[in-house]
Amino acid sequence: MCGIFAIVNDLKGDAANTVLDGLKKLEYRGYDSWGIAIKPENTSRKREKLAVEKHIGKIGDAKTTLPSGKIAIGHTRWATHGGVTDDNAHPHLDCLGRLAVIHNGIVENYLNFKERLVKSGHRFSSETDTEVVAHIIEEKLKTIDLTTAVFDSFNELTGSNAIGVLDGESETIVACRNGSPLVVGVDENHHRFFLGSDVPAFLRYTNKVYFLEDNEGVVIDKQGVRLYDLKTKREKPLRLRRLDWNLEDAEKSGFPHFLIKEIHEQKQTIEKAAMTNQRIIGDVAKIIRENYKVVFIGCGSASYCALAGKYFFAKAGIETQTYGAYEYLPFSTFADDKTLVIAISQSGETADTLIALKQAKKNRAKICAVVNARGSTMERLADFIIPVGAGPEIAVVSTKAFTAQLISLYMLSMAVNNKVNQAMTDVKRFSNHLRKWLSVSLIDSIIEKSKSLMDMEHIYVIGKHLNFPGALEFALKLKESSYIHAEPFAAGELKHGVITLIQKDTPCFVLASIDEVKGEILSSAAELKARGGRIIGVAPFESDEFDCLIKTPDAGDLTFIYNIIVGQLLGYYLGVGRGADPDKPRNLAKSVTVK
Ligand code: F6R
Repeated sequence: MCGIFAIVNDLKGDAANTVLDGLKKLEYRGYDSWGIAIKPENTSRKREKLAVEKHIGKIGDAKTTLPSGKIAIGHTRWATHGGVTDDNAHPHLDCLGRLAVIHNGIVENYLNFKERLVKSGHRFSSETDTEVVAHIIEEKLKTIDLTTAVFDSFNELTGSNAIGVLDGESETIVACRNGSPLVVGVDENHHRFFLGSDVPAFLRYTNKVYFLEDNEGVVIDKQGVRLYDLKTKREKPLRLRRLDWNLEDAEKSGFPHFLIKEIHEQKQTIEKAAMTNQRIIGDVAKIIRENYKVVFIGCGSASYCALAGKYFFAKAGIETQTYGAYEYLPFSTFADDKTLVIAISQSGETADTLIALKQAKKNRAKICAVVNARGSTMERLADFIIPVGAGPEIAVVSTKAFTAQLISLYMLSMAVNNKVNQAMTDVKRFSNHLRKWLSVSLIDSIIEKSKSLMDMEHIYVIGKHLNFPGALEFALKLKESSYIHAEPFAAGELKHGVITLIQKDTPCFVLASIDEVKGEILSSAAELKARGGRIIGVAPFESDEFDCLIKTPDAGDLTFIYNIIVGQLLGYYLGVGRGADPDKPRNLAKSVTVK
């Protein structure tokens, strides 16, 4: 939520454009407004005010009119406090125009400060919680140095926050983290320094990074980056690490959108997820065999992955529990030192999942994080990390991270019964078929199907057993990408009420596999058909109950993943056809770091 990007020592003096380009890479984190502040160069006046540009709307092809300069800071916003206006866009300045503050998170106690600051004469120009931070620091700077003023101010804020502060006078950026992600990048020659809320912002310059931990701060100037403990204010060694991500990971590489690029990347990412984590999966399987109670948690797509995990584990003979992380707290009291909580997350920063994990940890549960992004808070909380390795997922709608997580849970469920080799064979076969099936002719048929659904207001999706979490995810992809109301149901639920919704020609997707419930799901399809529903089968077989079929390969228990990929593709092409932005759906942000 909210993207942060800054550069220090842009040698060509083009810091504003560098920040603008970086923000474009981060727009998936928030896109209702953006802004940049720069210290103009070629000025003899040390006290020259910062120059600022802010706009509502997406960055898209925006250009900046800011002057040249070597140090700049920028932000893409996902509004929390204050409407979507130019004034509420970040950065926010102090009264003197010396400091520019950008922020990710919510300052829960901002009203306490605001009243006092207004009384002592500070002028506010926005309704945001962020602006108080600029004025608190301004006030403290009257008596103490910049670093102490920023660290002390940050320590007084409550909530999960990350801030970046550009001081025009000393040409320094000071940044602090507690609960919201921040990462520092350093180029090969140690000349240029970057600050971001995510690596893609500066991946074109460097993959040498340091992910800040909670209660750490950095001071960045043209001499370099210094790392501090925010509480003791002591300097700490900065241990940079090199990520195995490359530039193509953060570029569209010839695809019109990140979403369709990432859907196609599943031809590699699914197999990679299965191959790379065998040792750690073996370790987690061992714990599960020691009679740990297994609880899966996640939010959104990740919660559907958790539900699929429950089915995988049932097939492996192990009873597990699944919760949307936002509903876990009442049940966290049952977690104890024989509980393994498996948290699923693309970002590793989802506030609800982190809160649930912290609670479980308090009760001495062991934590396993099945995550995609690296250096996340969730990784730090975890006893075991299964990094699913799908690479940066830039589209807001999750696809490749989700399927890499699914495969990781499948591998884990098989590992519990020492069937990793069989699982590996299944995944290899799955991926080989995926590479052939996800072809031009499939895309053509999906585009044709999308055209026939373009004007629909309601779509229903049913599935049973593994195809039930499949139906949940399928419908979410349609909703997020195309804004069509798509409602998923467990096939067994139909007769208990929801069948009233079916009218003549209502599109009903029926997700099916060649499994023990094939007959039952076809009976449900027949019931929908009898009420006039237009039945679109997504399955590896033909049936008289289907008015038409999008055929998927038969991959046993993994068939439902192909069925989900059909939903990803339909969502994408419906979204494009209906004029939505598939990479940045309205009202959403990639990583939900607030409750
Ligand atoms: C859906 C989607 C969201 C996320 C959810 C959790 O396409 O992306 O539903 O799955 O916000 O996010 P993570 O996985 O980062 O914890």
